Amino acid sequence: MTTVVALSAGLSETSSTRLLADRLVESFGRQFGDASVEVVTLRELAHDIVDATLTGFASPRLQDVLDKVTAADGLIVATPIYKASFPGLFKSFIDALDADAVIGKPVLLGATGGTARHSLAIDHALRPLFGYLQALVVPTGVFASTHDWGADGAQALEQRIDRAAGELASLLKGAGTGRARDDEFDLFSDTFLSISNPGGAADDRS
Ligand SMILES: Cc1cc2nc3c(=O)[nH]c(=O)nc-3n(C[C@H](O)[C@H](O)[C@H](O)COP(=O)(O)O)c2cc1C
Repeated sequence: MTTVVALSAGLSETSSTRLLADRLVESFGRQFGDASVEVVTLRELAHDIVDATLTGFASPRLQDVLDKVTAADGLIVATPIYKASFPGLFKSFIDALDADAVIGKPVLLGATGGTARHSLAIDHALRPLFGYLQALVVPTGVFASTHDWGADGAQALEQRIDRAAGELASLLKGAGTGRARDDEFDLFSDTFLSISNPGGAADDRS
């Protein structure tokens, strides 16, 4: 059976990052079908992670999670954004992984933050890290700011969750990302083109 580990790096006890991880897991399950998905909360492993950083040895329960991540067919990663990047505890967990643990593994990246102005943290902080690890990151990253959990942002967040989870499901089924260029989501790129080239034709991309 296909196995997926969902890592939630939220450090609050009522964690919006955990909520995002759960929503991604739910959407993935709906779109993929039968899979074994385990959610891991790094907060519960915080002391083990710090000890492993100091000693170089993982406790049995941390090793168990590291082994599950390494063995999983795919990963869902959800982290809060701290100071425009991922928290140190999350990086220390990644540091405890073997360097080749996620090579070629499909990974969905999600993040929560207080402000939508930091939504590119997925692209400037998380993608380079997983690029270094040679993971296969799905095209859509899901950033959920405080605003997104309210009535105004909820529908768009749901769409991003479904899109990203659908891409992970599609990759794990061996069908690529399932992305098509001409769908509604990609109309954003035309918007950017029209801003940078106000007088130009929509398809003038040279
Ligand atoms: C130390 C610290 C630094 C933070 N820095 C940022 C930041 O740079 N950008 C941002 O959008 N939110 C920032 N936040 C807000 C958290 O990312 C946000 O509250 C997040 O959803 C918390 O996740 P959690 O509920 O799972 O703990 C910061 C929060 C803390 C505690």
